[in-house]
Amino acid sequence: MKALFSTADFPILDQRVYGHPLTYLDSANTSLTPDPVLQSMDEYYREYNANIHRAVYPLGEKATLEHENAREKLRQFIKAESVQEIIFTRNATEGINLVAKTWGKQNLKQGDTILLSIMEHHSNIVPWQMLAQENGLEIQYLGINHEGRLDLEEYNSLLKNEKIRMVGVTHQSNVLGTINPVKEMIQLAHEQGSKVLVDGAQAVPHMPIDVQYLSADFYVFTGHKMCGPTGIGVLYAKKTLLEEMPPFLGGGEMIRTVTTEGSTWNDLPYKFEAGTPHISGAIGLGAAVDYLNALDMTAVQSAEKRLLDYALKQVQNLHGLRLYGPQESDMRGSALSFSLEGIHPHDIATLLAEQGICVRAGHHCAQPLMRHLEVPATVRASLAFYNTQEDIDRLLTGLKSVQQKFL
Ligand SMILES: Cc1ncc(COP(=O)(O)O)c(C=O)c1O
Repeated sequence: MKALFSTADFPILDQRVYGHPLTYLDSANTSLTPDPVLQSMDEYYREYNANIHRAVYPLGEKATLEHENAREKLRQFIKAESVQEIIFTRNATEGINLVAKTWGKQNLKQGDTILLSIMEHHSNIVPWQMLAQENGLEIQYLGINHEGRLDLEEYNSLLKNEKIRMVGVTHQSNVLGTINPVKEMIQLAHEQGSKVLVDGAQAVPHMPIDVQYLSADFYVFTGHKMCGPTGIGVLYAKKTLLEEMPPFLGGGEMIRTVTTEGSTWNDLPYKFEAGTPHISGAIGLGAAVDYLNALDMTAVQSAEKRLLDYALKQVQNLHGLRLYGPQESDMRGSALSFSLEGIHPHDIATLLAEQGICVRAGHHCAQPLMRHLEVPATVRASLAFYNTQEDIDRLLTGLKSVQQKFL
C-alpha cells in the first residue's frame, strides 16, 4: 500500500520513550501536527506578524489575506455556501456555547425541549444544561442499542414531542466510534420544526464533510483534532440563522459603529468574532486543510478503515478484552474503547505508557454515556492516518504484557 503521507512530516514520531519507539494512539484526544502546519505558523510570526483587518502596511495586508484565505479553505473543506458562514472560535466547545448563548437564548422558551444523544461529549451537554436552567427548558436523552448505535425508532417517537426545538448530536462518538446517521436525523428533525447542531469534532478529521448535503443548521469542529493547532475551531451555521442571532461576545471587530449610547453590529462572520483572533491558529488550520486535501479525505477514510479492520480483528481476539461500540467497521470510526477483565483502565494506560504507547483512560468527557454503559472508565486507543499496523501490533503486545503482570 502506497503511504498516504511522509513520515518526515511528523518528526515527533521519531523518538523513543523509556527506550521504546513512540506509539501514538490518542488522536481522538488531539492529533499530531505535521511540519507544513508548524511552518505556516512560524512564517506568520517570522515574516508577517501583524494584526488583521486594521493595518494598511504590507505586513498587515498579508496577515489579513492569509487569515481570510484560511476561512475560504475551511469553507471549501466542509462545502459551506459562503465564507460568512464560517465563524472562527477557540474550539468545538466554544462553538456550542456560542449557539446555546445566542440562538438558544433567543429562540428557546420555557417548556421547550432539547434532545441530546446519550453519547454526547460534555461540551454538547453542559452548555445546554446551563441554558435549560436559565430559560426553563427540558432536556431529553436519546439512548443507544446493544451495539452502541442510536435507537432511531426511539428518535422518531421522541421527535413527535412538538416541544423539541433543538437536537444536539455528535457525528462520530469519541468513545464508541459510532458514526451517526446525521443526514437522516436532520431531515426528520426538520420535518418536526426542530433545528440540529452536529458536533463534528471527531468526524471532520476522518471523512469528507458536506454541510449543505447534510443540511446541518449548526456544525462545530476543532482544529487540534484535524492536524491543526490548539485554540482554534470553527462554527458553521446557516447564514439565515447567523443573521438573526444576537452577537456572542462584545468588543472590537464585531461592531460597525459605537457611540456612547450603544453599538451596531458588523457583517458576518465578524459579528461573532470579537477581539483580536488567533491569527496564527487560523493560518495553521488553513495549512492543516491544505495538508488533508493533499492526502484526499476519501483516501484518508479508506486507509483508516483498512487499519480499523485490522485493529478490530486483533483486539477482538484478545481474551478478556471487552470492546464497546460497534464491532464491525461499517459506520464506525477508529476510536476503540475497551476494558480488560480484572484490570483498572488507568493501570492499563500507565503500564502501556511505560512501553511508549499513548492511549487515554477515563470517562472521555462522556460521563452520562459511561453511566449508561455501567462502567466508570474505559481505555481508548484511537487511530489516525499516520498510524500503522505495527502500532496496533505494539498495542496488542503491550496489552498482553499488562495481562501477564496481573495474572
Ligand atoms: C465529540 C467531541 N466533541 C467535542 C469535543 C471538544 O473539543 P474541544 O475541547 O477542542 O472543544 C471533543 C474533544 O474531545 C470531542 O471528542
